[in-house]
Amino acid sequence: MITYAQTDAIAQIVIDNPPVNALGVSLVGELLDAIARAEQDGKVSAILIRAAGRLFSAGADINEFKKPEDAPRLPTLIDRIESCSKPVIAVIHGQCLGGGLELALGCHYRIAARNANLALPEVQLGLLPGAGGTQRLPRLIGMNAAINMIATGTGVSAEKALSLGLVDRLADDDAVIVEALEFAGSLTGVRRTCDLPPPAIPSDLDAHLAPHLQSHFDSVQACAAAIHAAAELPFMEGMAREAALFEELLQSDQARALQHVFFAERKAAKIEGLPAKIERHSVERVGVIGAGTMGSGIAINFLLAGIPVTLVETNAAPLQRGADGIARILATSVSKGRLTEDQRAKATDLLNPSLAFDDLGQCDLIIEAVFEDMSVKLDIFRRLDALAKPNAILASNTSFLDINEMASATARPEAVVGLHFFSPANVMKLVEVIRGDQTSNEVLATCMKITQRIGKVPVLSGVCHGFIGNRMLLPRLEQAKQLLLEGAAITQIDEVSTRLGLPMGPLQMIDLAGVDIGWHRDVNRIENLNDALCARGRLGQKSSAGYYDYDDRRKPVPSTEVGSIVEQFRNDAAIERRTISDDEIIVRTVYVMINEAALILEEGIAQRPSDIDVVWMLGFGWPRWTGGPLWWASEVGVSSIVAGLERYRSSFGPDFRIASSLLKFEADSQSFYSRG
Ligand code: 3HC
Repeated sequence: MITYAQTDAIAQIVIDNPPVNALGVSLVGELLDAIARAEQDGKVSAILIRAAGRLFSAGADINEFKKPEDAPRLPTLIDRIESCSKPVIAVIHGQCLGGGLELALGCHYRIAARNANLALPEVQLGLLPGAGGTQRLPRLIGMNAAINMIATGTGVSAEKALSLGLVDRLADDDAVIVEALEFAGSLTGVRRTCDLPPPAIPSDLDAHLAPHLQSHFDSVQACAAAIHAAAELPFMEGMAREAALFEELLQSDQARALQHVFFAERKAAKIEGLPAKIERHSVERVGVIGAGTMGSGIAINFLLAGIPVTLVETNAAPLQRGADGIARILATSVSKGRLTEDQRAKATDLLNPSLAFDDLGQCDLIIEAVFEDMSVKLDIFRRLDALAKPNAILASNTSFLDINEMASATARPEAVVGLHFFSPANVMKLVEVIRGDQTSNEVLATCMKITQRIGKVPVLSGVCHGFIGNRMLLPRLEQAKQLLLEGAAITQIDEVSTRLGLPMGPLQMIDLAGVDIGWHRDVNRIENLNDALCARGRLGQKSSAGYYDYDDRRKPVPSTEVGSIVEQFRNDAAIERRTISDDEIIVRTVYVMINEAALILEEGIAQRPSDIDVVWMLGFGWPRWTGGPLWWASEVGVSSIVAGLERYRSSFGPDFRIASSLLKFEADSQSFYSRG
């Protein structure tokens, strides 16, 4: 896992542990041996530590956190490097993360390739840098800069690292080893970060920390405590404080949940049973049909990934609106510093707005994003079948409709797939990849790859009404409206969800999506509460009124008008008003989703529980620190979930059934996940 070589008087220790040079226990042992060998070798005057492959190191091996503590450990290695009597130089390229950066901080000098990104992302795993990062980084770059990196996990570029004093030199990517050798040859002594004086406490420290401390992540508080220790305690005592805080976090529910999330997001793109070597289609040009908000958002993803897009509309005005919208979003990204002017210009050049459906004949992947009307979609798929390239992938962005029916409109059902983006499609990370009965493995594998290429996390779903995410949403929304009629206050219903950490409750979500989804505007039929609101012009946030009233800044305020609409509905339906407990709301708006998820798994719609967690975290804002709905349910305990569902069974209607897998989990004292 490491190689050892000598160039003149310079020893080169090369970490070679694909795919990400994770610093596991055995690698740490090898590095300890290599340092000892170089130190003892009288012909060696300096030591380079560098890495093979595309990056320096992703840090400690996250898989090993679950294992019992096993020497030798990373902090021991880093202390050993720092105490080495010969100069040790870290040669950093690509990602240098977590324990990888801490190892570099233990070296006496650091040289970075221009492509390097340096970060301490442990906080995102519910941890803190536990190999000296919280003690050495503030000594090197000062408290406030260290807080920015440690409490957020945000990385810095090589150039920024140089300006902060985090690295000593920069080199071009292909020259970094040569320059490091020259640099090493010029060094005469060591320079230890642990010997630097403790960082000064800046006068604005509290103000600087305050926004970070509002985080739901316990790890942020622990990071702040460890960084404080760097300023207040001698180095070794600070290290001991860091180690104690790290151990505490390691045992925490949040850390286990967040590490589950890390692996869940990576697993989601993997399709069970697919041959390892599968041929993927090449995607050189993408077609998007429909230049509305969704179509334009989808197009932006591909443009920014350098893939040309043909954006097709039937009329000039909506096409122009779509193109203008894309231009506006790209310009805003430049003004917010998320995009350079050059990137904006390149993305803009790749867009081909067109009124000619036939232009889609040049595309390798065509995504329709027109409104949810099966007859319109069937017509599009028939026309695509007639003109698309032989190997083209034909995709629908439908949220609910049957992909198999669309596939049946073509003579190539194996090429038809769902690609369900979430709104705003240029921002949200989730794409549900919908496998039709006949979708080919090659098409699925291509879709997984291309969605990853545009920065998304793809999750495979089978065909059903609403796929994974929206299918779980539907009973939640129905129950929320029912609870309102039975006597719960709007704010009470929503606050049960926001207290769990969801960004909004179910009624706020209806307002955001549009109360008028499914409203038969033409006949003005009032069949439910949503229809009644629509009839009064309360269409949701877009009309500044829905279940709530909204001010200019979209702040929701309870509405008296809605109160009287609900009252009337309640009277008409002869529903008796009663006091509703938060417990009932949580069962009927959250446990009911867990039940639906269990059914989704039983039916094979989702491949694995962790995919469902990913869908709800990335598509609906379920709080990451609870690990997703099914991880959370496992922590709550399936028996509690089942008992809750039993308690309110009569509220769910005659067709409701508790998933048999939940009942079996309960009987076997099991859960979606076993506690590892
Ligand atoms: N430990 C173990 N496995 C890791 C890992 C790590 N630190 N980092 C990545 N991997 C694995 C992934 O699970 C994945 O495995 P798979 O192929 O079986 O799914 C494989 O490496 C490739 O990872 P990605 O798919 O994420 O590859 P990318 O190229 O997209 O991204 C990366 C590479 C930017 C390095 C990204 O993997 C990453 O951010 N890794 C985690 C970095 C991190 O959080 N480091 C801190 C670790 S904790 C620590 O160091 C504690 C210390 O302070 C004591």
